[in-house]
Amino acid sequence: MTSVPAADAAREIAVLPQDGSAIDVARERELTRGAGLSHHFNAAGSALPTTAVVSAVVAHLRLEERVGGYEAAAQMKEDVEAVYRSAGTLLGCAADEIALFDSASTGLRVLLDALRPMPGSRIIASRSTYVSHALHLMTLQNEHDVDVVLAPVDDGRRVDLEALESLLADGRPTILTIAHVPTSSGLVEPVAAIGRLARKYDAVYLLDATQSVGHLDIDVAAIGCHVLVTTGRKFLRAPRGTALAYVERHCAAMLVPTAPDVRGSRWLGERDWDVTATARRFETWEAGIAGRLGLGVALDEAQRRGIPETAAWLTSTGAHVRESLRGIPGVTIADPEGADSAIVTFLVDGLTAAQTAARLADRRIRVVSVPATHGQWDLGDRAITSVVRASLHVYNDDGDIAKLLEGVADAAREGART
Ligand SMILES: Cc1ncc(COP(=O)(O)O)c(C=O)c1O
Repeated sequence: MTSVPAADAAREIAVLPQDGSAIDVARERELTRGAGLSHHFNAAGSALPTTAVVSAVVAHLRLEERVGGYEAAAQMKEDVEAVYRSAGTLLGCAADEIALFDSASTGLRVLLDALRPMPGSRIIASRSTYVSHALHLMTLQNEHDVDVVLAPVDDGRRVDLEALESLLADGRPTILTIAHVPTSSGLVEPVAAIGRLARKYDAVYLLDATQSVGHLDIDVAAIGCHVLVTTGRKFLRAPRGTALAYVERHCAAMLVPTAPDVRGSRWLGERDWDVTATARRFETWEAGIAGRLGLGVALDEAQRRGIPETAAWLTSTGAHVRESLRGIPGVTIADPEGADSAIVTFLVDGLTAAQTAARLADRRIRVVSVPATHGQWDLGDRAITSVVRASLHVYNDDGDIAKLLEGVADAAREGART
């Protein structure tokens, strides 16, 4: 990747709102109550939602209060149906290929289990894999004798495509599971190139897009994944407790959930049941309808804002922040070479990541410390115990960024004295 010099990136940011084609940060801040209350750099944890998202949630809870939960859901049936259509539009698939979940981890678990990895079969996982999914994979290895292989990485710690191809070329039945953007750094996996290899060698391709939907421009057909899972609360700016998955129609028809639920199945006789034809076969009956309605609003807002425009803005602003942090004495960028997303990880000499995050929190600058326990295959492998993670969204203006840089510079001065 070509890194954007800080001065150029700053110029780009300054002109973006005026050029009419991209992101109007001032407008985004007006729509986002929390934007004026702190300098929020934790979109990769849980982003600030817009007032419209929160209003949709509250309105539904008020409706439930008046008429009861089931009756409220019945009244809002059409709006809930629209959530599937909006998700399909965002990802480039049909509404019947969408399943809604309460978290990305639930979606990943249900769909990986539905693939029924058999003893002796192989799962190739990226080093960017998230903790909860990795623990599931290792449990399958320990209890079901599934062979879990970590995909070799290149100099930028992305999946090494040549090495992956040599693994796949042996023809063994394989599930490939890749995290598009990890929790622990700003790297972006070459997901479309991986998709081409998956198709060439008939591997089933499961993409964890938890950190990339709402952040990067995602088209499931262009990527070539069979399954994609994402959460609502991060770059999509939806309420907590929401998530969605794409399951390619052909794949959904072949896979049955290991624990069918009344939502997607009918109990027809003493020992007889059937499963609905769509991706909803993976869902559960019980769900927070208010959150789903908020998710629908967030999906539509993301679309209205413009997906390519948002992705371009986030990427260039991420580059600007990364380069500016790199220029502060005592600060080391922890992102691998070439990382170019809106997640920026760094370390401050003389302070732990948690201490740095705490110093910034004192100034209402919200970043987090990500420990190796959230990504041993990445941070642990690089012998890093934790990193500070700053993650942006379209409501972060120049003032927020200036505060972040100032806060980190002060933390670095303190670190130098210790
Ligand atoms: C890459 C990645 N995958 C999966 C998850 C899990 O998402 P959830 O908390 O919605 O289960 C996270 C959470 O941070 C993540 O960063």
